[in-house]
Amino acid sequence: MTERPYIRPRRLRTTPAMRRLVAQTSLEPRHLVLPVFVADGLSEPNPIASMPGVVQHTIDSVRRAAAEAVEAGVGGLMLFGVPAAGDKDATGSGADDPDGILNRALSALRSDLGDSTVLMADTCLDEFTDHGHCGVLDDSGRVDNDATLDRYVSMALAQVEAGAHLLGPSGMMDGQVGAIRTALDDAGHTDAGILAYTAKYSSAFYGPFREAVGSSLQGDRRTYQQDPANRDEAIRELELDLAEGADIVMVKPAMSYLDIVRDVAEAVVVPVAAYQISGEYSMITAAAERGWIDRDAAILESLTSIRRAGADIVLTYWATEVAARLH
Ligand code: PBG
Repeated sequence: MTERPYIRPRRLRTTPAMRRLVAQTSLEPRHLVLPVFVADGLSEPNPIASMPGVVQHTIDSVRRAAAEAVEAGVGGLMLFGVPAAGDKDATGSGADDPDGILNRALSALRSDLGDSTVLMADTCLDEFTDHGHCGVLDDSGRVDNDATLDRYVSMALAQVEAGAHLLGPSGMMDGQVGAIRTALDDAGHTDAGILAYTAKYSSAFYGPFREAVGSSLQGDRRTYQQDPANRDEAIRELELDLAEGADIVMVKPAMSYLDIVRDVAEAVVVPVAAYQISGEYSMITAAAERGWIDRDAAILESLTSIRRAGADIVLTYWATEVAARLH
């Protein structure tokens, strides 16, 4: 007869109470941040076909969604602006216009919510440019790093003046955190923080986001976003962002990059965020719609796994729903 085990890990899995007692990773509403899209020129919210359940908001509807999210206890909101198609141009001039859609939405939410939540803004040009790139192009069509920094600085100042608590530079330009930090400090905005998109990979999983922001991207983002094959590069970007003054560092996407989340979490003492992006949302949603996976369980498992990998904060389109469910 085979020898009977006298060490039995199953003992700690016997009842829900026992499992709860020994659970290492927790998920609380405050850990979740809700990304929202606010579009100009809509009379009512516009469903995003490739992200069932997510919409492009009007200013009125985003006010309601934000109030609901805060009521559910989320840690914050990340705002993306979507100008009307005819208002996009080569330099993304809607981005730093105080009357641009993102800045108007920030002011509306800041006046509704004050400091009761943390308002974050995407500090990037791709939603505002007609070519869909995250920066301005030089004569040869290449994304011009340093000219783009000037645009980010102007955008960051407009966003803070509109009411953002944290700026989220997501364009992967070299020096973006330092340029924004210096400009904020020079303007006296020493309390405005930077949630840096530190390790942002060039990912196929951003697909549905393109529809969400009405982007007509020409080409791809491989000359500025990281190659999915690379791990060490994330640490190099991390060192730079910390040296340039990042307050929170982020890894994106999340689920295919949990090793990077872990690397970053082990390397720093600042809070680490991870972004469960559009394609991750859509994959789970689509499989669940087909009855292939249990939707609610898959959502919780995905978020718990991102936390387990080392993320303090998780951006997820399910933030309000999950926060409400966690009560
Ligand atoms: C760039 C930006 C993107 C996302 C967030 N910020 C798109 C990109 O880099 O291609 C993607 C978010 C998502 O897919 O949910 N402004």
